[in-house]
Amino acid sequence: MSGGGVKRLIVGLSGASGAPLAVACLEELRRHPDWEVHLIVSRGAAETIRYETDRTLEEVKALAHVCHDMDAIGAGPASGTFRAQGMLIVPCSMKTVAGIHAGYADNLLLRAADVTIKEGRPLVLCARESPLSPIHLRNLSELSMIPGVTILPPMMTFYNRPVSVEEMTHHMVCKLLGRFGIEPDGFRRWEP
Ligand SMILES: Cc1cc2nc3c(=O)[nH]c(=O)nc-3n(C[C@H](O)[C@H](O)[C@H](O)COP(=O)(O)O)c2cc1C
Repeated sequence: MSGGGVKRLIVGLSGASGAPLAVACLEELRRHPDWEVHLIVSRGAAETIRYETDRTLEEVKALAHVCHDMDAIGAGPASGTFRAQGMLIVPCSMKTVAGIHAGYADNLLLRAADVTIKEGRPLVLCARESPLSPIHLRNLSELSMIPGVTILPPMMTFYNRPVSVEEMTHHMVCKLLGRFGIEPDGFRRWEP
């Protein structure tokens, strides 16, 4: 359990494309011992981990300090009294976006996001779909107006001249974790 100045981050993985990005975030968080990671993996994410990475679901879960079952709606992150600095959902599917937007908290991932919003804590959504429909855009737009909510899609960046997918992924990891004050090594900021 968290103590001695250790901060907690709730990390949700949902079934949008981008499982390697989620793995890279979890690996980076392991390099920051002042953070304790509470992981929630949706059934959709279990599928994309299988399709998009060489990791087993158990290997991904082992990157977190605590892994909560998606159906465990009585787990810590389901309550506002559970201490946490915020929540990151990476990647965030449009179904999960819709659930958060509607306040339809029928699983632990959605409930934890709902709680994060009601407690006024930072919620970062690495929302991914392409192209985006008017429904997706409406949900994202309305969520973006809630104080503390950041929509940070996994968009490609070229100004840092990436030479590999890994470099592009790392840049995105830096931007996502940066919202929580976590600065990974090797973040290439724009310094003209
Ligand atoms: C390989 C794969 C890639 C997918 N990519 C996306 C995506 O980029 N965005 C999205 O919204 N849904 C995507 N989906 C569909 C979601 O996984 C699906 O809607 C699922 O029900 C989401 O549930 P969850 O949010 O609880 O994980 C993808 C599914 C698969 C199998």
